[in-house]
Amino acid sequence: MSTSPDSPLFQPFQIGALALRNRIVMAPLTRSRSSDDGIPPDYAAVYYAQRASAGLIVSEATNISAQARGYALTPGIWNAAQVTAWQRVTRAVHSVGGLIVLQLWHTGRISHPSLQPGGALPVAPSAIKPTGQAFTNEGMQDHVTPRALSTGETQAIVEDYRHAATCAREAGFDGVEIHSANNYLLEQFLRDSTNLRTDQYGGSLENRLRFPLEVARVVIDAWGGGDRVGIRISPTTTMPGVTPLDRDVMGTYGTYLDALSALGLAYVHTIEGVTQQTRDHPADVDFAALRKRFSGAWIGNNNYTTELAEKAIAENSADAFSFGRNFIANPDLVDRLRNGGPLAESPKEYWYGGNSVGYSDWPGMDGQIRIAV
Ligand SMILES: Cc1cc2nc3c(=O)[nH]c(=O)nc-3n(C[C@H](O)[C@H](O)[C@H](O)COP(=O)(O)O)c2cc1C
Repeated sequence: MSTSPDSPLFQPFQIGALALRNRIVMAPLTRSRSSDDGIPPDYAAVYYAQRASAGLIVSEATNISAQARGYALTPGIWNAAQVTAWQRVTRAVHSVGGLIVLQLWHTGRISHPSLQPGGALPVAPSAIKPTGQAFTNEGMQDHVTPRALSTGETQAIVEDYRHAATCAREAGFDGVEIHSANNYLLEQFLRDSTNLRTDQYGGSLENRLRFPLEVARVVIDAWGGGDRVGIRISPTTTMPGVTPLDRDVMGTYGTYLDALSALGLAYVHTIEGVTQQTRDHPADVDFAALRKRFSGAWIGNNNYTTELAEKAIAENSADAFSFGRNFIANPDLVDRLRNGGPLAESPKEYWYGGNSVGYSDWPGMDGQIRIAV
C-alpha cells in the first residue's frame, strides 16, 4: 500500500460527537480470549491501547446478554464485573488519546445450545437452521434449528439492548456500534429469507425493519442522542451460506438507511462484498447510492487499501475506512500506512483463542512491544 503522509486519510475527521485524529478505524475483531463469564482479560487493555493511534477503535463484538452469546470465549456487557473489566480497557485507550466504541452483539440463531443458559435452543425471528458450525467450548459443533421468538420475548431483547448500552456508557466507552451485519440477530429480522414471522415483526418490509429500529431507538435513548451511536451493516453478505439473503437488497437497505438517517445516528459502518472473502457483490447493489440515503458519516470496510480509500474519499463514497486483519499484527498500523512501512501478517492460529501471545505482543515498526498502559 503506498500513499502520501499528506493524504486526507491522516487528517482529523469528525463523526458525530467523536473527533477522530485520522480516518483509519480499527474494525471489530473477535479474538476469543475472554472468560466463560464474558470478562475480557487484563491484557486486553494493553492490546487495545497499543492500537489507539487509529482514529477510532471498534471493540470486538460483545454480547448484550447471556442469551446473545454464539461463540465461546467472547466478552459481555450486561453485568457489573464485565463493566469493571471494560473500564480497564477504556481507561488504557483514553490514556494514550484514543477513542473506542463498543460493538453490541446478539448472535440469534448463529449459536448453539451448549453456549446458551440452561442448554436452551438459540433464538431467532423464525425457526430456520443456519448452515455451518458454532465455535463452542467443546470445539466446532453443527448449528441447530433455533426457536422462534414470541412477540413478548422480542420486546424483552430490545430492553436487553437498552441495558447493555447503558452498561457500555458506565464502562467509559466513547460510544457504541450496533451490530446489524453478518446475519446475526438484527439482520435475521431484516432479511426476507430468515424472517417468516406473521406478527408485527415480520412480513412487510416495514415490519421486518421494526425490531432493528426499535433497538436503534433504545440505544440512542440510553446514550442521550445518536451522536455517539453507529451501526454496522452488510447488505451483500451471504453469511452463513453462499446464497443471497433477500430478494431486494436495495429496497431493504435503502429504506433501512432512510430510517437510520432520520434517527440521527452518527455513522454507518458498511461491509462491501462479503467480509474477508471478497469485495465482489451483485451488480444491482450500488453502495454509492446507499451511501446517499444516510446523512451521517460512512465508514467503508472490507479488503481496503490506502489507494482504494483515497479514491473513495475523492468520489465521496465513504468518509473513513476500517481495517481488520491488518490491525492484528500491526499495532501501529496508522504509522505504517502513513510511512509506507512493511505490514506484518499474523498466522491464523493466533486470531481466535489463546492468551497474550500473538495478541498483545506484536512489536511496532521500531521493534518495541508497548506493554505499559
Ligand atoms: C479475527 C476476526 C474477527 C472478527 N470479528 C468481528 C467482530 O467481532 N465483529 C464484526 O462485525 N466483524 C468481525 N470481523 C470482520 C472484520 O471486522 C472485517 O469486516 C474483516 O476483517 C474485513 O476487513 P479487512 O479486509 O480490513 O480485514 C472479524 C474478522 C476477523 C479476521
